[in-house]
Amino acid sequence: MSNYHIKHLEEYYQVYRKSVRNPEVFWEEIAEEHFMWRKKWDNVLSWDFTKPEVKWFEGAKLNITENCIDRHIYTRGDKTAIIFEPNNPDEDAQHITYRQLHDKVCRFANVLKEKGIGKGDRVCIYLPMIPELAISVLACARIGAIHSVVFAGFSSSALATRVKDCDAKMVITSDGSYRGSKTIDLKGIVDDALNDCEGVESVLVAKRIHSEINMKEGRDHWLEPLLEEAYHDCVPEIMDAEDPLFILYTSGSTGQPKGMVHSSGGYMVYTAYTFKNVFQYRENDIYWCTADIGWITGHSYIVYGPLANGATTVMFEGVPSYPDYGRFWQIVEKHKVTQFYTAPTAIRALAKEGVEHVENHDLSSLKVLGTVGEPINEEAWHWYDDNIGKRKAPIVDTWWQTETGGIMITPIPFATPTKPTYATLPFIGIQPALMDEQGQEIKGNQVDGRLCIKFPWPSMARTIWGNHQRYKDTYFSAFENKYFTGDGALRDEVGYYRITGRVDDVVIVSGHNLGTAPIEDAINEHPAVSESAIVGFPHDIKGNALYGYVILKETGESRNHDNLRKEINQLITEQIGPIAKLDKIQFTSGLPKTRSGKIMRRILRKIASNDTANLGDTSTLLNPDCVKEIMDGVL
Ligand code: WT7
Repeated sequence: MSNYHIKHLEEYYQVYRKSVRNPEVFWEEIAEEHFMWRKKWDNVLSWDFTKPEVKWFEGAKLNITENCIDRHIYTRGDKTAIIFEPNNPDEDAQHITYRQLHDKVCRFANVLKEKGIGKGDRVCIYLPMIPELAISVLACARIGAIHSVVFAGFSSSALATRVKDCDAKMVITSDGSYRGSKTIDLKGIVDDALNDCEGVESVLVAKRIHSEINMKEGRDHWLEPLLEEAYHDCVPEIMDAEDPLFILYTSGSTGQPKGMVHSSGGYMVYTAYTFKNVFQYRENDIYWCTADIGWITGHSYIVYGPLANGATTVMFEGVPSYPDYGRFWQIVEKHKVTQFYTAPTAIRALAKEGVEHVENHDLSSLKVLGTVGEPINEEAWHWYDDNIGKRKAPIVDTWWQTETGGIMITPIPFATPTKPTYATLPFIGIQPALMDEQGQEIKGNQVDGRLCIKFPWPSMARTIWGNHQRYKDTYFSAFENKYFTGDGALRDEVGYYRITGRVDDVVIVSGHNLGTAPIEDAINEHPAVSESAIVGFPHDIKGNALYGYVILKETGESRNHDNLRKEINQLITEQIGPIAKLDKIQFTSGLPKTRSGKIMRRILRKIASNDTANLGDTSTLLNPDCVKEIMDGVL
């Protein structure tokens, strides 16, 4: 276990140096010592960022669920694997042991098989945060089916796009979901989506809210009776290390979302190793990540990373504000949570409600706190440190992406001295580079640039489903021989990294990665709209909010602008989901464009942020006059 837990800064530097001097030797040791392989690899790593092609542990055979479940049965069969905390605090929590998890996953896997799902088939999972979500993910992995989880807050058309893109044969959903005081008709959303998806042969429906729903004869099946009848054991499908484990969609700078494809072997090794070190996980800890499994955070650090370590992982169905703003802290107290991992947007929202919601709860079990998803501002960092960790629990500000599969830049608790707003140092094996706009690497400290990664790591996405060219264009073309993250970063005098935010057309709203293009596409479908541009602007709680500049087909006051604003947000809600709604909509007669016709978002961003002192050179624009009009009309 020598390499597994890093305990102090010197050890971090030692292990880090080893990991980058000889990555193959380093990762081979980790992979050998800590996992169950059916066959070892022929080759640890082959890579070529120009193609791009990356292969880890080629030739190795495994099933990730044997690593996440079966092997623990012998040593910790009666240990709780998953604690399910329901939306309503009056409903009992469920404790699922490793032995029970094995039973549940195997039964579910047999149901999938019986419905014709096999290795390589795509299964779309559209479920709320109930145990069936984690179990169905693992059941797919058990039989080698590729899961594609779609966050259950997405609209029917967003779901349809994702189902069609990967040609899913099956959708797994529930009758509905609870969210705070609301119930949501998930099955109705699936029905709408599937009007448009011919490839889907069957829909499995879990019962959660016991609502009246429509079941389509021959296509839709209630899950419970099938699980009851299914056999309780299922021989795992033996996978190649490079076989896809799952697809997860993320927004891009064009309308179509990108289906990031993750591998079986490398993904397992990296998520398990990072989990153990970044959260300093020890046997008998109770770990809780508040993310939804619909995002990569949930895949890697609710399901796979924790379970590969035999950990106890909490799944929370509800929201931080229901029944009141003390809900998170009540759960920490109730389950004696030791590691707590959340997003800056949640911290800011809770901080706003005041410390009285925290004070009446015993948070003394907490050892490590984490944040992820967006830059954390200094105020929120200190609030978290003072009130939740009581300055005793180090905060790990973890920077990573859907594409990276696992945490990339982060402190290691009790080893790396933390610094507010800094993600600090690259994790073991990660080789970041800051690049200037001419494509040169900026060496040394106290510099800033575009954040790239120079060398492959085991959990990087291998391609975009069905579009390898786009994978190459998006991540490997901006800088030669480097993975480009889309983020800007600075490196301080001791080599700590601070992520400064996206440098492309993606805005992070409440920790959700939103591409501006799909939102613009939705707006442009409004019959009165001719063109639009979306940018982010700073928001106290959400980190960023969306500001839309909209050109109408008919200028003048012929339409009521407030009604138009409502209709535009309604369209966005239908096509993408409520998270993508605009906070501000300004109507204008023009948008600043370069001579090649590209919208200058940089200028729009500055105007939306009230930062117009230094707009830069606007004289090269095609239409410089519109800048003044927009500034005069700014909301
Ligand atoms: C983008 C990736 C990784 C899971 C959640 C988001 C931003 C993420 C941090 C952080 C500053 C962060 C980046 C990144 N981001 N973590 N600790 N500090 N920014 O995954 O939806 O793929 O979004 O989130 O801009 O590129 P995602």
